[in-house]
Amino acid sequence: MSMTDFASALNGRDFLALYDYTPEELEYLLDLGDWLKKMHKEGKPHKLLEGKTLGLIFQKSSTRTRVSFEAGMVQLGGYPMFLSANDLQMGRGEPIKDTARVLSRYIDGIMIRTFKHSDVEELAEFGDIPVINGLTDSLHPCQVMADLMTIREHKGKNLKGMKMTYVGDGNNMAHSLMMGGAKMGMDVVIASPSGYSPESVFVKQAKEVAAETGGSILITPDIQLASKDADVLYADVWASMGQEEEAKERMAVLSSYQINDELLKKAAKDAIVMHCLPAHRGEEVTESVLEGPQSVIFDEAENRMHAQKAVLAALM
Ligand code: CP
Ligand code: NVA
Repeated sequence: MSMTDFASALNGRDFLALYDYTPEELEYLLDLGDWLKKMHKEGKPHKLLEGKTLGLIFQKSSTRTRVSFEAGMVQLGGYPMFLSANDLQMGRGEPIKDTARVLSRYIDGIMIRTFKHSDVEELAEFGDIPVINGLTDSLHPCQVMADLMTIREHKGKNLKGMKMTYVGDGNNMAHSLMMGGAKMGMDVVIASPSGYSPESVFVKQAKEVAAETGGSILITPDIQLASKDADVLYADVWASMGQEEEAKERMAVLSSYQINDELLKKAAKDAIVMHCLPAHRGEEVTESVLEGPQSVIFDEAENRMHAQKAVLAALM
C-alpha cells in the first residue's frame, strides 16, 4: 500500500484497540510519529489539523495522557477541549449514546479515559467522529504506540524476534503490550502470579495475531525465566486506578514481581527498562533501576505526544 492508501484507510477510524489495526497500519503510524517528532524537534510547522477540535473526556486522573494530547493537538494547529466527566451531564447520568451523538455535531474527535471498555465502544458506536481510547480498565493502546516507538528508537526498527518481558499485574498495560508486541512479531512474556494473569480473551487474541506475524506470547509465574535474555523489561503499578481498595492485598501477592538490579542482570546486556508511569519506586521497580543507565522511561513518556500526534493526524 502507498502512503496515500494508508492515509485514506485510516481517516475517520476509531482507535480503541491495537487489535483493530494491521501490523502495516501500525508501522505507518509509527513512521508518521517519527516524522512528526523530527518536525517538532526542528521547529518546523506541521499544522495538519488546523481548525479541528478534539474533546478530551477524563473519568480518571492523568498527567501524561492529558498533557501530551493537549500539547500535541496545539502543535498540530488544532484545539484541545478538556472535558472533565464530573462537569459533563454524563457525570449525572446522561447516556453515553446521547453524549456521543451530541459531541459528534460539535467537534472532530474524542479521546476518552474511563473505566469500562464497553463505554468507549458505545461512544464509538453512536458517535460519527473518531474515538480514541486514552485508557480503560482493559486496554491502553496509546501508551503502547509510544512504547513501540521508543523500542524502535533504541533497538532498531525491526522488532521481529525481540523479547519483551512484562513483570507484574496482568492489567490493561499487559493486555495492550501483548497485542502491540504480537502485531510486531515480538516474543512477549508476561510474568504474573497466579490470580493476576492477563485476561484469557486478550491472551487468545494476542496468540492468534502472534501466530500470523511469527511472534509468540507466553504467560508464566516464573519471573526469572521470563526475564532471561529479555531485550525489554517492562513494569507497571501493582494496583491500577480504580483498584485502590485492593492495594494492600495486591502488594502482598505481587511483592516479588519487581524489576530490580538482580533481575536486570538476567536480561540481555543491552536490555532497556520501560514503565508507562506513574511509578511506585520500591514496589514494581527499584529507584536504582528506574534512574539507572538502562532506563528509557522519559523517552517513553515523551513519545506519548509524538505517537499520539500521528494517531490524531491520521484519523482526524
Ligand atoms: N502512562 C499514562 O497513561 O500516564 P497518565 O496516567 O499520567 O496519563
Ligand atoms: N495500569 C495503570 C496504568 C496507568 C497509566 C492504571 O490503569 O492505572
